[in-house]
Amino acid sequence: MPSDLAKLDALPLHSRTPTEWARAVLEDPIRLLMDHAFLEKKAATNALELLTRWPGDGIPGWVETMTGVARDEAAHLAQVTRILLRRGGRLDRIHKNPYANSLRLLVRKGDPAEILDRLLVSAVIEVRSCERFALLAAASADAELAGFYEALFASEFGHYRVFLELARKMADPAAVEARWQQLLASEAEILAGQEAGPRIHSGCPTPAACVVVDNRSLP
Ligand SMILES: [Fe+2]
Ligand SMILES: [Fe+2]
Repeated sequence: MPSDLAKLDALPLHSRTPTEWARAVLEDPIRLLMDHAFLEKKAATNALELLTRWPGDGIPGWVETMTGVARDEAAHLAQVTRILLRRGGRLDRIHKNPYANSLRLLVRKGDPAEILDRLLVSAVIEVRSCERFALLAAASADAELAGFYEALFASEFGHYRVFLELARKMADPAAVEARWQQLLASEAEILAGQEAGPRIHSGCPTPAACVVVDNRSLP
């Protein structure tokens, strides 16, 4: 088993994507890379938005985390765009992301709930992306793509952990844990409702193939 697939067991997701998903999306690598480029751009923007909205007075590690994540995501965007352009693709102006939009709708308005939810939703998206990159790394016969996805797994795993650590500084541990589990459960439902297609957060080739698992004991 590739090392990244072994790491999937450590992810607290409430559903598992089957390997057929990766094989299906890799049939259209250009469209997959186009979608991916938008996600990296959005992730960089998200980190800077968090820093702008909450300058982070008194939260240890806040500024360092947001600027570090923004820098990493901009680097990922540069890497994915370089691969995309070399293969004859290009960035489109418009991009639809119903998965992330549905998750953002779960964010409660008004602090302190809003900042907590923004951090947890960011962590959820990172952890699902980790799963998807691990599957893509294992399924890709293209060495450049496989290496790229494997490197991204490590980076996005780090982001998931730092967002979750910051969230745990925002409220009492039981409240954070309860909300984290709620959002992980909602994420599995939202993902199961996505259409299949060459996108990082697309639905499974057949909806029944998205396996629901009980990971509530994982951190
Ligand atoms: Fe990224
Ligand atoms: Fe990330």
